[in-house]
Amino acid sequence: MRFDILTIFPGFFDSPLRESLLGKALAAGHLDVRVVDLRGFTDDRHRTTDDRPYGGGEGMVMKPGPLFRAIEALRAEPPPPRVVLFTPRGRLLDQPLVEEMARWERIVLVCGRYEGVDERVHRHAADLEVSVGDYVLAGGETAALAVVEAVSRLLPGVLGCAASARRDSFSDGLLEYPQYTRPADFRGWRVPEVLLSGDHERIRRWRRECALRLTLERRPDLLAKADLDAADRAFLRR
Ligand code: ADE
Repeated sequence: MRFDILTIFPGFFDSPLRESLLGKALAAGHLDVRVVDLRGFTDDRHRTTDDRPYGGGEGMVMKPGPLFRAIEALRAEPPPPRVVLFTPRGRLLDQPLVEEMARWERIVLVCGRYEGVDERVHRHAADLEVSVGDYVLAGGETAALAVVEAVSRLLPGVLGCAASARRDSFSDGLLEYPQYTRPADFRGWRVPEVLLSGDHERIRRWRRECALRLTLERRPDLLAKADLDAADRAFLRR
């Protein structure tokens, strides 16, 4: 799997791509991430990537020229990529979309900045517009990192334990159950007795019910799409 991140702030990605899970996955060759400086596709002495908006108004708009040239150059390299443009008006990123992206061989992530990107880039250069939430970031760089990290952890070999990718929040459409580690008594707050019981069936059921209760309380919207069996439904009716 390959990502090309198109940005005017290539340095933004230096340490995230070195550290932690992502850094290890890159070093091990499980994925390939290339950061592409948009300024390399400008055509003036000042390497300008933005300009004033037609019709007036605050702020600057990213020019179509450098973005089109960069995206066309990236599209010309095999394998053919999907081009994702980050914008608050895009499709909301969720685990099903992350899972879909993990099946794509190559993704170009286009990081917009300032007040926006020329509309012709949205319409004629991008394949998909993606938002990482209903709030406004200063640019797409943080969104790109979120996508790279969420997709990478689904790739073969990236997580130490593939089961943890399957078990965690959202993979079955529910929020994750609570986790505890030692000590069994921390400042008087005890680990639930069932987790010390060694009874795997009781533990499995307890965890499932915690996940169902948490999801019902905090994200009831997720229940409609969750993967529930008859016992789950009976529990929710109680
Ligand atoms: N750029 C600015 N805000 C954004 C958001 N919420 N998602 C994706 N890109 C953005």
